[in-house]
Amino acid sequence: MKVLVTGGTGFIGSHTVVELQKAGFEVVAMDNFENSAPSVIENIKTITGKNFHFYEADIRNKAALDKIFTDHSDIEAVIHFAAYKSVNESVEKPLAYYENNVGGTVNLVEVMQKHGVKNLVFSSSCTVYGDVSVDALPITEDSPVVKANSPYGNTKKICEELLYDTAKASTTRIVALRYFNPIGAHDSALIGELPNGVPNNLIPFVTQTAIGIREKLTVFGNDYPTRDGSCIRDFIHVVDLAKAHVKAIEYFDKSADSYSVFNIGTGTGNTVLEAIHAFEKVSSTKLNYQIGDRRPGDVVQIYASCDKAINVLGWQAERTLENSLETAWKWELHLKQLREQAVN
Ligand code: NAD
Ligand code: WQD
Repeated sequence: MKVLVTGGTGFIGSHTVVELQKAGFEVVAMDNFENSAPSVIENIKTITGKNFHFYEADIRNKAALDKIFTDHSDIEAVIHFAAYKSVNESVEKPLAYYENNVGGTVNLVEVMQKHGVKNLVFSSSCTVYGDVSVDALPITEDSPVVKANSPYGNTKKICEELLYDTAKASTTRIVALRYFNPIGAHDSALIGELPNGVPNNLIPFVTQTAIGIREKLTVFGNDYPTRDGSCIRDFIHVVDLAKAHVKAIEYFDKSADSYSVFNIGTGTGNTVLEAIHAFEKVSSTKLNYQIGDRRPGDVVQIYASCDKAINVLGWQAERTLENSLETAWKWELHLKQLREQAVN
């Protein structure tokens, strides 16, 4: 079976291309390299020892999408990662986020429908649940989707809604995966996350501080009503997350559902301080961090109920937080090596 992966050289997309190939799928990937590098293509091929088709193309360009589906009339499913993902940037440039994330998704589904491709896996986010009360945890897929607290979050909510309406009105079938906090990198350290500028996310900031790119990490608040006062998140290894996409593609064959939503997390919440201490342990480093003010808009605590993914999708996270952090650190060390090679 042939699968198109949009955003295929990005953080989650690249790991998913690897897992799809490992599971025997033929892959066509596309990306415009706005937040990834062409070198990722060769690195994926080194990991899998297999070839895949690649297009440098933009999902906002319908003619470019049309060419991909014309060249590969046997594409049966699409996994749609291509989007902008910075919460802060989305506040400054909302229209760019709506144009790319919402407009790009509309384009993609229109071209899929033109070519008779029915199955789409969509990258959604636990951000759609907003700030949840502690008795709603672990959060299930039945929990209400609330008003988003950023334009980025709103693009995920709007895409889920427009995909739901489309699935009800047509033969298009959707699996929306709500990711919790993806971290880590491939064991080979050949692919991983490439944060653009100063990272907003915790783990890239942690590894960049440990390697000396950032002077110190600020923990945004230690006065929350949690076991150590810092926020709680469900950190999921990117390889586990990638494998969930393989299961989602396989699900199209097993189910007649037109629209399904799954939480993709570990089911365990860890505090920010626990993650920092686990990182110090696995990397044998002492992290320079300070406690700072709360970050406006932060959710206090959230972690997934994975029962639906386990029972219906047949998927469960396997990696530990320690392993996720170990691979994130290995990846940061690899990036350092690349920088040193570039200088010499
Ligand atoms: P990423 O930025 O590493 O990957 C996205 C890829 O899409 C990049 O390679 C980028 O160049 C490409 N892209 C962006 N706009 C494009 C366009 N118009 N045309 C073609 N390619 C385009 O991000 P990621 O972390 O891999 O995230 C993948 C998806 O998962 C996104 O939709 C994101 O919103 C969603 N998601 C991410 C997280 C997270 O924390 N990383 C959490 C929940 C959901
Ligand atoms: C995690 C925790 C911070 C940086 C964001 C998006 C969400 C989703 C995942 C895509 C929080 C704390 C962070 C730092 C810190 N993305 N932190 N110091 O906020 O859970 O979610 O990424 O869909 O939509 O909102 O992730 O990694 O930014 O923060 O103390 O320098 O780490 O306060 O408690 P978050 P994060």
